[in-house]
Amino acid sequence: MKHLLKLLDLSTEEIIDILNLADQLKYEQKHGIPHNILKGMTLGMIFQKASTRTRVSFETGMYQLGGNALFLSSKELQIGRGEPVQDTARVLSRYLNGIMIRTFEQSEVENLAEFGSIPIINGLTDFCHPCQVLADLQTIREYKNKLEGLNFCYIGDGNNMANSLTVGCLKVGMNVTLACPEGYYPDEKVLDFTRDYENFKIVNSPVEAAADADVLYTDVWASMGMEDEVEKRRIAFKGYQINDDVMASAKSDAIVMHCLPAHREEEITSKVFEQHAKEIFDEAENRLHAQKAVMVRLMANEG
Ligand code: CP
Ligand code: NVA
Repeated sequence: MKHLLKLLDLSTEEIIDILNLADQLKYEQKHGIPHNILKGMTLGMIFQKASTRTRVSFETGMYQLGGNALFLSSKELQIGRGEPVQDTARVLSRYLNGIMIRTFEQSEVENLAEFGSIPIINGLTDFCHPCQVLADLQTIREYKNKLEGLNFCYIGDGNNMANSLTVGCLKVGMNVTLACPEGYYPDEKVLDFTRDYENFKIVNSPVEAAADADVLYTDVWASMGMEDEVEKRRIAFKGYQINDDVMASAKSDAIVMHCLPAHREEEITSKVFEQHAKEIFDEAENRLHAQKAVMVRLMANEG
């Protein structure tokens, strides 16, 4: 594995290897066992969109691994004034040991990887959010002690989260059901990928999708960059919510997940959110551990 651009690029073995390493690093951190695996290395973090979790978990993670992280807002880089990503990639490759980028177009991340000579990590694009899903899989395995055979249900927009969750969950052997309104299905590339999987389906009813679910997941109705569609989406997504009716359809020990930030009373009720806050914030914590594993796998030999 040279980069983490999207989960479509990873084998099941590579995903499981990252989850195992994430568990180990989490154990070491909790027990005060130092792991300065990336001592002296620097990660550049380019942000074209807002972030709380991704920024802080990467920065802290890099520090815990003995290295440094640089926050690079695209507004303040020359990229914001039109310097091509191809040139930025070649310059930053001369200083840094890895780049994490959060941006709009997936092609921008792929271009960085093509023109740069250091590992590139996708910290969210309009197409996908692989780091989040690695943390999600780590969390699901912690709660359920396995991944294969679990029933996973996602309710809401067929967005970057739905794309990565579909690919990640299918690759590790989970059964995936999505409830999305017509016109808001996942990306065609992801739908193409699912054609090999009989254990994938999309339905329109959230209650039907949640039947017998072990894991329920939702995300915002309007993602970053869709601010002018908020009103239209509020209408289109009405009812695409994790609430008591959906919970009643799922298994009684189902866990509830959300990548955050959450919009209470839209995609999830406050009641369900608070009842499942433990899972949701464990999930947020695991961003740190899963991303440390990604950085170790990608950067440990880059020194
Ligand atoms: N879940 C997630 O990526 O959060 P941030 O947008 O705060 O980074
Ligand atoms: N779908 C959301 C995820 C945020 C982590 C967005 O792209 O805004």
